[in-house]
Amino acid sequence: MNAPLITIKGLSKAFPIRLGAFGDKAAVVRALDDFTATIIEGETLSLVGESGCGKSTTGFCILNLQRPSGGSIVYKGQELAQLDDDAMRPFRRDLQIVFQDPYSTLNPRMTIGEALSEPILFHKLATKSELPARLSRLLADVGLSDRFASRYPHELSGGQRQRVAIARALACEPRFIVCDEAISALDVSVQAQILNLLLDLQDKYKLTYLFIAHDLAVVRHISDRVGVMYLGRLAELAPSSDLFANPLHPYTRALLSAVPEPDPKSSRQRQRLQGEVPSPLNPPSGCRFHTRCPLAREKCKAEVPALREITPGHQVACHAVTSATTTQWEPVSA
Ligand SMILES: Nc1ncnc2c1ncn2[C@@H]1O[C@H](COP(=O)(O)OP(=O)(O)O)[C@@H](O)[C@H]1O
Ligand code: SF4
Ligand SMILES: [Mg+2]
Repeated sequence: MNAPLITIKGLSKAFPIRLGAFGDKAAVVRALDDFTATIIEGETLSLVGESGCGKSTTGFCILNLQRPSGGSIVYKGQELAQLDDDAMRPFRRDLQIVFQDPYSTLNPRMTIGEALSEPILFHKLATKSELPARLSRLLADVGLSDRFASRYPHELSGGQRQRVAIARALACEPRFIVCDEAISALDVSVQAQILNLLLDLQDKYKLTYLFIAHDLAVVRHISDRVGVMYLGRLAELAPSSDLFANPLHPYTRALLSAVPEPDPKSSRQRQRLQGEVPSPLNPPSGCRFHTRCPLAREKCKAEVPALREITPGHQVACHAVTSATTTQWEPVSA
């Protein structure tokens, strides 16, 4: 196995907000709580979970684009969590992000060539005279010809714009890229092309990805490991094949039961998830999933289940799971 690239311990993020008609009530959104994981060099680690469960917040906090409220992120032996913008600058180049909506990162008044030149010149990765060749290579890397350099974002299709957003991240010669729903807004046929492009680039440049997605079918094929999040917490983290073959957390099982099973002989039980995700303004005590979990007991309301390793590399946060083959409680009948 490769070495750890980023080691994350107890990462949390709370957003103070104002509520009430006059904004007179202070409240806190607990978007991310006690996230602990090691990102291995060269891997694709995916994060999945329902909308609002804290996937983007995790990505932003790891990159210190949002200042974490607590916890630690160690990259190249350096603690990043509390670095200010100036201190973060030497690390910015290595740690990039591609968003779902490339419009948010591309200036509509800049040509593609200008947009790609900006990070190259900022990080002094090429001189003015080397720039045209560097741009040409970047565009070729993402499957675009040189003539795109003089175009504006609005002249491009969604897939082409996403290629430019990837090229912009790549321009910094990064080691780690957070792909935050980077293919979610694209047509299905274009999704496959962009996904293949990301995989080719990973091979070519030895990149490490944190791939954030809600489409489990996509994640299954591209991930080395998958983390499942629920209401700001990591519920399960496992090698992708393990997670799909033997999901242990009741939430993961419910999520996966909505995904078509490629093996018709599979004995996986179908489970329907009941109710809505509770608000992160006032998350349930103990295990945050207890209000929707078919196995929940009193202990689940009282005690936060720790993330425990059940088999090598397969971690789960659930009081009921005792081994890779046994869950100690039966579903509570309604
Ligand atoms: N800047 C912010 N201020 C207040 N709440 C926020 C902010 N950003 C995200 N949140 C809240 O934090 C929770 C997690 O959000 P997010 O990380 O975007 O989830 P996901 O990416 O999984 O959909 C959500 O409840 C969201 O509304
Ligand atoms: S800890 Fe309890 S409520 Fe949480 S997932 Fe496990 S059985 Fe369900
Ligand atoms: Mg998100």
